[in-house]
Amino acid sequence: MSTIDEIKSKIDIVDLVSEAGVKLRKAGRSQTGFCPFHDNKHTPAFVVWPESGTWRCFGQCNEGGDIFKFVMKREGIDFKEALQKLAARAGVEIKEYQRETPQQKEAYQHLRKLLEDAVIFYHSHLLANGEILSYLREKRGLTDATIETFGLGFAPPGYDNALKHFTQRGYLEQDLMDAGLLSERDDGRRYDKFRNRIMIPIRDEQGRMAGFGARIVDPNDIPKFLNSPETAIFTKGHLFYGLDRARKPIRAADQAVIVEGYLDVIALHQAGYENVVSPMGTALTEDQLRLLKRSTRRIVLALDPDVAGQKAVLRGLDAARSAMDKEGELAFDARGLLRNESRLQADLRVATMPDDLDPDEIVARDKNEWAKIIENAKPIVTHVMEALTAGQNLNDPKVKNQIAAQVLPLIDDLGSPLERDTYRQALARMLRVNESALMGAQPKGPVMRRKPRGVESGERVESKGVAAHPRKNIEHYCLAVLLRKPELLYRLDRRLEEFGLSPLAVEDFEYTDHQLLFEVLRQAMSQDEKDHGFFVHSKIPEALTALTTELLAQTEKLDPSEDKLLDDLLARFLDLRRTHAMTNVNQLRYMQEDEQQIGGEHLKMYQEQTIQFTRLLRGLDQAKLKMSKRQA
Ligand code: UTP
Ligand code: MN
Repeated sequence: MSTIDEIKSKIDIVDLVSEAGVKLRKAGRSQTGFCPFHDNKHTPAFVVWPESGTWRCFGQCNEGGDIFKFVMKREGIDFKEALQKLAARAGVEIKEYQRETPQQKEAYQHLRKLLEDAVIFYHSHLLANGEILSYLREKRGLTDATIETFGLGFAPPGYDNALKHFTQRGYLEQDLMDAGLLSERDDGRRYDKFRNRIMIPIRDEQGRMAGFGARIVDPNDIPKFLNSPETAIFTKGHLFYGLDRARKPIRAADQAVIVEGYLDVIALHQAGYENVVSPMGTALTEDQLRLLKRSTRRIVLALDPDVAGQKAVLRGLDAARSAMDKEGELAFDARGLLRNESRLQADLRVATMPDDLDPDEIVARDKNEWAKIIENAKPIVTHVMEALTAGQNLNDPKVKNQIAAQVLPLIDDLGSPLERDTYRQALARMLRVNESALMGAQPKGPVMRRKPRGVESGERVESKGVAAHPRKNIEHYCLAVLLRKPELLYRLDRRLEEFGLSPLAVEDFEYTDHQLLFEVLRQAMSQDEKDHGFFVHSKIPEALTALTTELLAQTEKLDPSEDKLLDDLLARFLDLRRTHAMTNVNQLRYMQEDEQQIGGEHLKMYQEQTIQFTRLLRGLDQAKLKMSKRQA
């Protein structure tokens, strides 16, 4: 994720705007208030859409944008300065971006080669060790085929087995350090990091070696699992164990299951459940969920009872979780998970393991049981309700009250009115009260927004800005293709013109960084340059290089023909315009109603804007129609 995207994902536009002194009032999917940019204090013409992280003033300003644009406009600063401000606020470090040089690429390849060699080295030590082999076969129920498939190995006891082996084969000690295979003492002496442990190779989603997880064989050793240190190619928060093998099955099943342990992943794959992955002893990050989201939106968390049970739920709901979680535990943070669910438009569910068993023990006992457990996974809110009510005396009004007070705020946070309604009814049923009584249990008074949290350490599953809004992704894609093939811009403009629509403009993008990049593209194309691509790249402001690189990486393999790409881009831009216009028309409808009631002065302006957007919508629909005729 680029720095800019990370900032977008960590800053909630509602917090930002509220702090600037704008009092916002919730109205459906949007929130409205008085525009801070022009002084009209009669009617609220300023609208914020939290989901897309955008705002618009329908009054005098008649413009909008994202968090960057808001800060730029408010403080009269440029993008770079706004970026710095918001980065500091989000606690995101702006890395002076360097393109991955050919040397770096080569260095990573060298590291991966070393790690592949290490897989072979540890594996051959495993095959030579009858005791460990029989532990894996008999105690853990793994077949030889599974041991091969997952490349399991054994790091022999002793401080210099790997060190000697690899330096004798021409690797430098520094290579071994960089790959995380050695540790260093204070006096500078280096020794094998992994000793007397079962070695589990960890690969990225493309199957490239990234690092190792290593489990003890001597129960007295600590820690139980030792992972490779974070290296350039091993970042735990961005990887899932098993995803290289699970990706296809996840697609096929249209479902991904997250378990806690490496050995659970292996045992489940062996049992035929191949859509399973695990994190590496760290809390789930949004980046990880996004990685899965590329293959499916249906994600099940298979959690230990002590992680998903009553105490954990309460602790998670209460507060200061991050301080309490220890490494090696999937914390259950309902609110964070719900936020991710809505932002990623995913379907997150929780399955709890019965009888205090690990998944590998469950499939060992009865293969089919696993399928049933996963089928029975509950939506997060349902899970929380069940965990909180389990074993409680629901005849006690105090208990009812406590539970309602815990669950209602979660329900209120849900984006969909339908979901909110359904869960309120479910809660009322569960507590055996009627719904109006339930609503009475909620604290009265104006809804206070939570104070924006300070800088959070670590990567908890709970950032809250805009991470994966569909609009953002589509803009990303369009820009990525245009960066790769700037010439398409001409052809797009021509097609738009044929449809009687205006050429592409910065307004087709809602996010400031995208607008800026588009501007560079536009400029480049208006120059009489032979090599437009080169010109584009030489003009990209430093703050946008990371985004550019990310976009270019996305289109490394653009295989469809140019004509196909053109059609595709055109369709997407039409959609972007359409969504934008629809959102505005809908918003304007509310605003006109309000305005009518109070006899406000904006009515005419709103009506005119509505006419414009409606006209645009008609033009867009006609264009779509012509397009589909042309294709037919
Ligand atoms: P568990 O302790 O539940 O281990 O840790 P497990 O996977 O069930 O292993 P077995 O069945 O006892 O052999 C679950 C996961 O938490 C991480 C590892 O990723 C492990 O797979 N973990 C655990 C650590 O990173 N460090 C630790 O010290 C312990
Ligand atoms: Mn286990």
